[in-house]
Amino acid sequence: MNWDDESAYATPPAGDRLVGTTADGEDQAVEAALRPKDLGEFIGQERVREQLDLVLKAARARGATADHVLLSGAPGLGKTTLSMIIAAEMGAPIRITSGPAIQHAGDLAAILSSLTEGEVLFLDEIHRMSRPAEEMLYMAMEDFRVDVIVGKGPGATAIPLELPPFTLVGATTRAGLLPPPLRDRFGFTGHMEFYAPAELQRVVHRSARLLDVEIDEKGAAEIAGRSRGTPRIANRLLRRVRDYAQVKADGVITQEIAAQALQVYEVDGRGLDRLDRAVLTALLKLFGGGPVGLSTLAVAVGEERETVEEVAEPFLVREGLLARTPRGRVATPAAWSHLGLVPPQQGGGRAGAGGSDQHGLFGE
Ligand SMILES: Nc1ncnc2c1ncn2[C@@H]1O[C@H](COP(=O)(O)OP(=O)(O)OP(=O)(O)O)[C@@H](O)[C@H]1O
Ligand SMILES: [Mg+2]
Repeated sequence: MNWDDESAYATPPAGDRLVGTTADGEDQAVEAALRPKDLGEFIGQERVREQLDLVLKAARARGATADHVLLSGAPGLGKTTLSMIIAAEMGAPIRITSGPAIQHAGDLAAILSSLTEGEVLFLDEIHRMSRPAEEMLYMAMEDFRVDVIVGKGPGATAIPLELPPFTLVGATTRAGLLPPPLRDRFGFTGHMEFYAPAELQRVVHRSARLLDVEIDEKGAAEIAGRSRGTPRIANRLLRRVRDYAQVKADGVITQEIAAQALQVYEVDGRGLDRLDRAVLTALLKLFGGGPVGLSTLAVAVGEERETVEEVAEPFLVREGLLARTPRGRVATPAAWSHLGLVPPQQGGGRAGAGGSDQHGLFGE
């Protein structure tokens, strides 16, 4: 992959995926209302929360500005939320910008020079910042100083500019892409993990309360189990299940209602959607579980290679349903059982439904 190409960073087109990781318009509107406002309200991520709590408490006790914080983790796990919490906990204002928005060092200089003392600067997608801006940031982070270049060519001069102490909060979905000198300048790095089902259940409950939706324990658990470890997806599924409950029932979300609704939206018990299942089904039924090449698999499901590789596969791999091997894509035993099929070597046939009919179902 060519990392200089802007499009290489973008999430590939995946349509309006209900289990997609990036925030769509509706998400953005609702998310602001659903964001926890302080560390106490922030669910899960025990380690990051505890460590961050210490960092912030210590800074407050010293009456100092908190150290720079880097938050890394998959989309929708709460990086933006946590950055706002950091500002709130420090009682500081927050300025929000992103790597792609800073193309020239001058853009960054303008932002940095207008910061007030103790302000939190949130730099989302920090791995997408331009090189010159990045170098300016090194100096700003370390010495609270930037050199502003005035003029062009041989007559250009660098004017040093003192900055007030500030806290940089950087967020990235790809910590591996950050140059080491940048990574090293953060005093604290928090790695956000995927959430456990019990934590997501609490997220669903909390959001339901804020959205004024009635839901019971098992209903929340049903949604949580299909949310792929991601609060953003949990909140989105909750809204769709709420719609279903309003139209098809009395508005109350029970396990039965949640399961019915998510069947309508084609999100299965493990959070796989139609695309995921199509990939897995092709791998099992057409190629006997693999190994099969990515291109062949993509043609079989009528999708682009990139879509299969970047949209469907990461979750399938994470769930232990599919493995990428040097010889091609291979299904794991868990994939066979998830789709209720029997692998050929055990079943004697190519595939059989639920193991009950191992012969002839798919014509040998
Ligand atoms: N720990 C949490 N407790 C409750 N809700 C959460 C938590 N983490 C995230 N959320 C919810 O999930 C939504 C998405 O979180 P957020 O926008 O912070 O994710 P992100 O990591 O910044 O994603 P991206 O990488 O796409 O920018 C928010 O609306 C927030 O309400
Ligand atoms: Mg974010």
